Amino acid sequence: MSDPQTQTNRALAPRGGSGEMFDRIAGRYDLLNRIISLGIDQGWRRRTVRSLGLASHESPRVLDLATGTADLAIMIAEMLPRANVVGVDPSRGMLAVGDEKIARAKLNARVSLQFGEAERLPLEDRSVDGITMAFGIRNVADRPAALREMARVTRPGGKVAILELSDPKPGPLSAMARFHIHTVVPWLGSILSGSREYRYLHESIAAFPSAERFAALMGESGLDVVEVAPLTFGVVHLYVGTPKA
Ligand SMILES: C[S@@+](CC[C@H](N)C(=O)[O-])C[C@H]1O[C@@H](n2cnc3c(N)ncnc32)[C@H](O)[C@@H]1O
Repeated sequence: MSDPQTQTNRALAPRGGSGEMFDRIAGRYDLLNRIISLGIDQGWRRRTVRSLGLASHESPRVLDLATGTADLAIMIAEMLPRANVVGVDPSRGMLAVGDEKIARAKLNARVSLQFGEAERLPLEDRSVDGITMAFGIRNVADRPAALREMARVTRPGGKVAILELSDPKPGPLSAMARFHIHTVVPWLGSILSGSREYRYLHESIAAFPSAERFAALMGESGLDVVEVAPLTFGVVHLYVGTPKA
């Protein structure tokens, strides 16, 4: 049994992956992201935007969930020059960094950020043409509720593209990837950020369901799965769904 002080500390500590946890690392998040992912993360995000299939849409409205510091929201606006993008996230610290980046990119007219959680979206039914969510669903406490919300706010035929880290299946190349995620990342994260939050990263990856199980959860939560693509030896998966008719 733990002592009362430990219990108090636990009660004060933000839940792993919560908005409060990300508030603590917001200022260092982008730099750490690039270093830890060896710069590959932007290629994964581009693939996610392409999977929405909105290149020829006249003026798509796109929701970027768990937008954080708005890397993906900005990329959507750059890749789809007629799109309007709304980014939603429960970390005010991450959103503040994102707002500065949007202003620097002169995209304020087409990209806006809102405080909110995936489980309770501040949006009308069928009001967006596509949704992206990169490295966010792992942090969501009630994933079925979040997926149902995505199905609710996407118009019929629109796509929901979820990018998430996964534990690579055993194999010689994936052994390197596993070593990177489970040993190098927590070590680099704690050295560079001076905080322990990056330990949470590999714990949450190990706790995330298999690609098959997560795709099944999408199906049970109102989305028809149209693609499940392992990327970079299965370090991440891209899951694409569309609201069930
Ligand atoms: C690893 S960051 C990803 C940020 C960004 N999408 C990117 O690609 O860099 C995860 C984000 O999930 C957000 N988050 C945590 N719980 C959430 C929830 N319930 N709904 C939506 N976002 C959430 C955090 O605040 C954090 O900004």
